[in-house]
Amino acid sequence: MASVVLLVLLVIFLTLFIKAAYEIASCYFLTPRRIKKIMENQGVSGPKPRFLTGNIMDMACLVSKHTSKDMDLISHDIVGRLLPHFLTWSQAYGKRFIYWHGMEPRMCLTETELIKELLSRYSKKAGKSWLQQEGSKHFIGRGLLMANGDDWHHQRHIVAPAFMGDKLKGYAGSMVDCTSQMLQSLHDAVELGQTEFEIGEYMSRLTAHIISRTEFDCSYEKGQQIFYLLTLLQNRCAQSSRHLCFPGSRVINESLRLYPPASVLPRMAFEDFKLGDLHIPKGLSIWIPVLAIHHSEELWGKDVNEFNPNRFATKSFSPGRFIPFAAGPRNCVGQSFAMMEVKIILAMLITRFKFAISENYRHAPVIVLTVKPKYGVQILLTPLSS
Ligand code: HEM
Repeated sequence: MASVVLLVLLVIFLTLFIKAAYEIASCYFLTPRRIKKIMENQGVSGPKPRFLTGNIMDMACLVSKHTSKDMDLISHDIVGRLLPHFLTWSQAYGKRFIYWHGMEPRMCLTETELIKELLSRYSKKAGKSWLQQEGSKHFIGRGLLMANGDDWHHQRHIVAPAFMGDKLKGYAGSMVDCTSQMLQSLHDAVELGQTEFEIGEYMSRLTAHIISRTEFDCSYEKGQQIFYLLTLLQNRCAQSSRHLCFPGSRVINESLRLYPPASVLPRMAFEDFKLGDLHIPKGLSIWIPVLAIHHSEELWGKDVNEFNPNRFATKSFSPGRFIPFAAGPRNCVGQSFAMMEVKIILAMLITRFKFAISENYRHAPVIVLTVKPKYGVQILLTPLSS
């Protein structure tokens, strides 16, 4: 009897062991190899991966080499600095190529038509990969940004109304209040003799102040006051357009084009689907290099690396080439909030101060989760009234 029990236990143990071994082999070797073959058969190839680490080391070396120094000039030509691997591999393998993040195959996609199709049509068939969720759980948690499927749908349904319509308009008052407080503290510092400010720090504190007031404190201003503040905002925006010689929104768009905070948009295929002429196999990660698309000469013309807000004067450019907030059902839920906030802050700031870049500013954009100025942004402020 004992030997029968032992035999049964042995069979169970062996079955579990073989199952686990197969799952590991499938996850780390068989599936990636199968995906590689499928994509190669469609003409999509890329740099040779190393065992287990894929192309991670190549990427890390290229990025650290290119970001080790500041840029010589305040140049907006930053793709070679921030995504050097993208430049190297797209030159060698073309618009679509595959590289390996460890054992995860990632296809880089830059064709705007396909990007549009992926983000709008396949928002449920492609989402955030397990690797991304695990990698980001300690700093952004398990919220909406990293959710998938029904969980994402449920969370989005709850969160979205907080950033829409009347709710959004109701935040204008708090945004104006918080910005006024910040302007006052800048004024106070100027009065005490300070001329140079690291404005990035002020902006981080201000946006944190606004989000905590608007999203966590529901007692927003009453209707009449909101109406008054919106009128004030309109006037300020109009005033700021006069100072800048073009409407403020174009300046904001052009800044988001040159320095999109989210430099890449990742999506993983949860099932097989067809994307344009491509068959996308389940398990393939698709990476949209937003920064490179925003700096593509083919899409934006010869002056692509120049700050030219007037390029946004016409709305008739092809969709998919300007995607700072992503697109489709999984776009940024805070887009309208962020745009309203930046318009209010910018309008209020430029009607109170004249500002110029300080000679202490070092142009060294880096990617630390988002695109950032490595040493902050030092500016010189002079109150306009003086
Ligand atoms: C200039 C400012 C902002 C930019 C450029 C931006 C950009 C983006 C982008 C590109 C995504 C898509 C990420 C992806 O799917 O991989 C995203 C998603 C998201 N953003 Fe923003 N964002 C901004 C401000 C905000 C603000 C102010 C909030 C909230 C107060 C916010 C909340 C979110 C959330 C919750 C998601 C996840 C949406 C989803 O997956 O359904 N964002 N954002």
